[in-house]
Amino acid sequence: MIRCVRMGRGWGEKRFAGRKLRRPSPRRAELAVRPLAQARGALRFRRSAGPAHALTRTAHRPSIFQASSSDPTISNNAAQAGNISPWPDGARFAKIAWWQSAGSDGLIHPGGFVQVELMVKDAALYKDTDGWGWGRWRGLDLKPYGTDARFVEECTACHLPVRGNDYVYTLPLTRASLDRAEVVNNRAATLPASLPYQPLGWRVITLFVDPAAHATAVLFGNDTAIEAVHARASSGGAPAYPSGAVVALVTWVQRDDPHWFGARIPDAPQSVEFVQMDAGSQTSRYRRFSGASLSEVPTAEALASSRMIFILGLAPAALP
Ligand code: HEC
Repeated sequence: MIRCVRMGRGWGEKRFAGRKLRRPSPRRAELAVRPLAQARGALRFRRSAGPAHALTRTAHRPSIFQASSSDPTISNNAAQAGNISPWPDGARFAKIAWWQSAGSDGLIHPGGFVQVELMVKDAALYKDTDGWGWGRWRGLDLKPYGTDARFVEECTACHLPVRGNDYVYTLPLTRASLDRAEVVNNRAATLPASLPYQPLGWRVITLFVDPAAHATAVLFGNDTAIEAVHARASSGGAPAYPSGAVVALVTWVQRDDPHWFGARIPDAPQSVEFVQMDAGSQTSRYRRFSGASLSEVPTAEALASSRMIFILGLAPAALP
């Protein structure tokens, strides 16, 4: 299902072979994008309809879409502070994968949900696996992956090439400058302070890739918008955003992932578009910021209204 690219660097090395491995036992399913309940060493998940929290990265690969997110507290604070070598206890990453769905708009949208994976840092609990607990749940019913504890060897073997980054492939979107530029994604995290909102701290509603423009875009929503996402009918479709909701479509030009051949990650931001549902009225307002300095660009009414229709019509990415 996931395309495997064999890499020379340490692939398949059985670093953990022969040692007793502690397996996160995902008895109950909880989607990783919510704060995790961790009891007696078990990774436990609560089902949630919520979209990804604090997006740290998106990667686009030929057959699958991925978004990694960190929990909103420890990992995110650590990323923002540059405290990631190693990641502190309590850091958590989720990687969510969807099938690609080619839209009639020429864009690639997330289609069916494939799986969610987790990495949870607890140096004492997971000392046999260098401090990380690993888990993977497949399908909308979040079926635990692996038949015995050795499934974790598959994870660690493939993450071994990035052992120097504490096993984390993701280059977090952070403005913290570290001496090793390949560990963080500063350029993609840099939005001007003059924007009316800072959407990178908001939750993610969906994302898509524009293959012709070599761009990745993520739709973020403020809390009111996210409530509307949760409240929408389970049949899917676009939410009805109420007044006070603001959504932001951030578009980045893509660059090659330095850690994974064939994957593409966000580079410099190209544009930020806001749609604000005005309080007390049924109207919405569109503002576009683009160009090298992401300054506000006046938009003709016809273009503004077609962009609003497009943005407000984006369906949230499917999650269990
Ligand atoms: C075939 C190689 C491969 C295997 C096997 C693999 N991963 Fe990963 N993993 C990656 C790559 C590459 C990324 C970076 C995101 C991307 O490009 O998909 C990643 C990213 C992640 C992330 C997001 C944090 C990060 O490191 O960027 C999590 C969480 C994760 N993997 C969990 C797992 C778990 C759990 C398993 C085992 C069940 C596993 N992975 C097995 C290659 C692999």
